[in-house]
Amino acid sequence: MDIFEQIAGLESEAARALDAVADTKGLEEARLRFLSRKGAVPALMERLKEVPNERKREVGQRLNELKNRVQSLFDAAKERLEAAADEGGVDATLPGRPVPDGHLHLITQVTDRIVSIFRRLGFAIAEGPDVETEWHNFDALNTPPDHPARNEQDTFYLDRPADPKHGRFLLRTQTSPVQIRVMRSQPPPVRVICPGRCYRRDEIDATHSSSFHQVEGLCVDRGVSLADLKGTLEFFFQELLGPGTRMRFRPHFFPFTEPSFEVDLSSESLGRPGKDWLEIAGCGMVDPAVFDAVGYDAEAFTGYAFGLGVERIVMILHGIPDIRLFEQNDLRFLRQF
Ligand code: DAH
Repeated sequence: MDIFEQIAGLESEAARALDAVADTKGLEEARLRFLSRKGAVPALMERLKEVPNERKREVGQRLNELKNRVQSLFDAAKERLEAAADEGGVDATLPGRPVPDGHLHLITQVTDRIVSIFRRLGFAIAEGPDVETEWHNFDALNTPPDHPARNEQDTFYLDRPADPKHGRFLLRTQTSPVQIRVMRSQPPPVRVICPGRCYRRDEIDATHSSSFHQVEGLCVDRGVSLADLKGTLEFFFQELLGPGTRMRFRPHFFPFTEPSFEVDLSSESLGRPGKDWLEIAGCGMVDPAVFDAVGYDAEAFTGYAFGLGVERIVMILHGIPDIRLFEQNDLRFLRQF
C-alpha cells in the first residue's frame, strides 16, 4: 500500500478513535495507540527511511501534518473531557459540593417578628421610599423650616434639583413620612405598620449609625384615643419581650403628635425590673396640623402614631453592645443568630 494511503488511513482511524473517547482511561489508551513512542504515528514516521530520496521531502511533510493533526485531535478530546468534568457530569458518585445555607439578617428577623405581632392586631404593611422630599419628611409632619433636624449637619440632602411642589430631596431621617404617603393615598380609617431604613448624619459610635431601621405605626379612625395607643403598645411589648414586661409613658415633644410621649420599658429580660427603665419608642396622638396637611378632616377623625428603633430593640433583646456590628457583615457575628 502506498505510504500516502497509509497516512490517510491512520489519520481517519485516529480521528474516529479520539472522537469516541469517553473517559480518561480511553484517552490514555488512544495516546498509547497513536502518539506514544511505540504508537502508530511514530511507527509510520519511521518508514520515511524506506522512501526513495526524491520523494522524502513530500512524504516527510505529509507525515508531519499527520502528527500535528493527531496531536490536535488528542488535545481536543482532552479538553472536551475536562469541560464535562467541570460541569459535574462525569462521576455522579462523588460527594456534592457543599452550598452553605444563609439566613436572614438579625435586623430582618426581628423586624419580621415586630411586624407579625402588629399584623395579628389588624395592621397592614406600608412602605415608602428611602429618598424622600423635604415636604413629606418634615413640612407635612408639622416640622417647620427652622427645626434643628432640618439642618444640613443632621440630614443627608441629595445633590439633585428640588421637586417644585415638595422641595429638596433627602435620605429620610425617619419612617414617619410613610404616614403622610399612606394618608394621601387613601381615606380613613387607616391602620398601618411601616418598617424601613432611615439615615442621619450622626457621629458614628457604639449606639449611633448613619443608617438604622425604624418601625412606624399609624392608626386613624373615628374616636381613636390615647387608651387605644397605650393598650396596643402594651400588648405589643408583652408579646415581644414576655409577660413580665412593664411600660410607662413619659411626656415628650414631637412636632407631629400632640400630646407626645416617650415609651420606657422595664422587663425581667432587660435587667432589674422596676429599677432600670429603658427608653424604647416615641408616640402620641396625631397632631391636627398633620391631618390638615394630608386633607383629612381633623374634626371627625383622631389617630395615634408611634415609632420604634429596631436596632435598639435588637441590642436589648440579644445583649449586643455595639450598633456597628450589624453592618460589618462579619460572619462570626451574623452566624450566632
Ligand atoms: N420619628 C420619630 C423619630 O425618629 C419617632 C416617632 C415619635 C415616630 C413619635 C412617631 C411618633 O410616629 O408618634 O425620632
